[in-house]
Amino acid sequence: MESARPLLELKSISKRFSGVIVADDLSFTVGVGESLGIVGPNGAGKTTLFGMIGGDIKADRGEVRLDTRLLNGMDSAERARAGIGRTYQVPRSFEQMTVFENVLVAAQHGAGLRGRSAHEMAQGVISATGLQRSINRPAGRLGLLDRKRLELAKALATSPKVLLLDEVAGGLTDPEVDELIGVVSESRGAGVSIIWIEHVVRALVETMERLICFAGGRIVGDGRPLDVLAMDAVRELFLGSEPGDERYLHGPKPMTGGVEGAKAGDGSETEHG
Ligand SMILES: Nc1ncnc2c1ncn2[C@@H]1O[C@H](COP(=O)(O)OP(=O)(O)O)[C@@H](O)[C@H]1O
Ligand SMILES: [Mg+2]
Repeated sequence: MESARPLLELKSISKRFSGVIVADDLSFTVGVGESLGIVGPNGAGKTTLFGMIGGDIKADRGEVRLDTRLLNGMDSAERARAGIGRTYQVPRSFEQMTVFENVLVAAQHGAGLRGRSAHEMAQGVISATGLQRSINRPAGRLGLLDRKRLELAKALATSPKVLLLDEVAGGLTDPEVDELIGVVSESRGAGVSIIWIEHVVRALVETMERLICFAGGRIVGDGRPLDVLAMDAVRELFLGSEPGDERYLHGPKPMTGGVEGAKAGDGSETEHG
């Protein structure tokens, strides 16, 4: 849906961490209701990109706009209220609090809802994400799939215009990935724009209408998922660069070279192994 009205706009975003370039004059837009998958090697800067959209990380240069409104200078709470909803690669919940309480907090703080409307929002997204069985369970006692669902539920409870999903399928079994795909597809149906970073490439191929391959701080491919995965520059980053070899559907090969220099000292996110 390239013709859709631009909702999220990134313009000339640059970012480096102690000499390592993670965003290099990066520009792209995401349309209203559009679904965009992002793939790329570990350490490419994908999570950092979400940080710069969500407000946890400050870009060195460039603009982030939502619905034409400039987000630079707004912190993550303000951006959440403006319509940016995100999940974290490493789930972040209040471990002692129940699923319901965690989602309620998100509805109150992220969407600014109060009283009954906050409760109704929490209940609605808990049902939609398949968490009803675990509604009264402390977050710290959930299995991996339910933790991922909870991340999704909290992001949805903020009534986002754009939903940022960071490797929500990581570590799940195939049938669990299928369940998650179902939940994400329903959010799509509700008209929310989605950006989904994922190593489980088949999840993106099955649900997203557009795919960006991101490496070295730059976009190396942008288009329909299967077209992008067929590009030479993209295949080089993935296992199995022979035409017709579909091993790339299982994820990128590990990045080689320069890893020491790219190591995070105090990164707020744990690297995906
Ligand atoms: N807070 C931080 N401080 C310093 N370096 C960081 C920080 N966060 C990430 N990095 C580094 O930036 C690069 C990109 O990281 P990240 O955005 O997590 O990549 P990806 O999500 O694509 O795997 C990596 O080399 C990582 O070590
Ligand atoms: Mg990441």
